[in-house]
Amino acid sequence: MSSLSVNFLGMKMASPVIGASGTVGFGLELADYVDYRKIGAISGKGLAPTPWKGNEGVRIAETTSGMLNCIGLENPGAPYFIEHYLPEVKKLPTVFIANMVGKSVEEYAECARMLTVPGISALEVNISCPNVKEGGAAFGTDYHQAAAVTKAVKEATTLPVIVKLSPNVTDVVSIAEAVEQAGADAVSLINTLMGIAIDLRTRRPILGNITGGLSGPAIKPVALRMVWQVAKALSIPVSGLGGIMTGTDAIEFMIAGASTVQVGTANLADPTAMERIVREMDKWCDKNGVKDINEIVGTLKA
Ligand SMILES: Cc1cc2nc3c(=O)[nH]c(=O)nc-3n(C[C@H](O)[C@H](O)[C@H](O)COP(=O)(O)O)c2cc1C
Repeated sequence: MSSLSVNFLGMKMASPVIGASGTVGFGLELADYVDYRKIGAISGKGLAPTPWKGNEGVRIAETTSGMLNCIGLENPGAPYFIEHYLPEVKKLPTVFIANMVGKSVEEYAECARMLTVPGISALEVNISCPNVKEGGAAFGTDYHQAAAVTKAVKEATTLPVIVKLSPNVTDVVSIAEAVEQAGADAVSLINTLMGIAIDLRTRRPILGNITGGLSGPAIKPVALRMVWQVAKALSIPVSGLGGIMTGTDAIEFMIAGASTVQVGTANLADPTAMERIVREMDKWCDKNGVKDINEIVGTLKA
């Protein structure tokens, strides 16, 4: 047995595997399927300061080796989460990270203040959200706005701040550098890649929102490339995700430079995926003489 435990931003985790936001609810939903003592952390569904209804119509479409979703960040709001979910979430034997969203810099700061409570160990800031005050482009596609959100959240909380980067940009490294300079403690990447699915019979988009976010195995090579580029450029830790379905996928992200990995779409196909992936990582380490998983981070020979 090799050691899979990691210390991520001061959080002691049983393994580098984190449940990715939006695919594990608030952790409670999968409690019958995974042994949370083996899972590093859970990143909850994105929370806003007030409840959001999400998008109308069809919200999910299966694609070749992946899926598109346009949930539209439906969530019950941070105050409701704290009152109704957090007491149960606290009992789970794993670390809880609150993923958060906002429609303006002020909303992000307000949400960060609300979520700075016992039971929440870190904030993961989803910057793939439209800025309604600045014409609707996502915060994460403009380095000034990405930095402004990061700075506002850092000022509003005492918790470690992980900024989740959007891959829908020309140069992910410049955005990553901007959020590092603005005070981010870590970055996670990638969020979903924007796409469209078409119903040929009706010649209409399948998704109610027309566009959706692509996730699953189809995006893994893109995610690996971005994790490698960002990890090389930054001195803060990187949490890597995008299409991780197996333990060896996770190991590849760590070799590319991720010190933790997140499992998303895999949970939707197999609710036991996170625990299986931990088991498979352990097996890979044993087979390859790796005694401590931290040894392999950023060891890509390129
Ligand atoms: C149904 C669904 C809902 C998601 N909701 C969120 C969210 O609320 N906040 C967020 O930061 N990412 C969200 N994501 C993105 C995932 O956390 C992850 O970044 C992405 O799916 C890529 O990883 P994967 O290929 O392992 O799924 C969502 C993804 C899916 C499939």
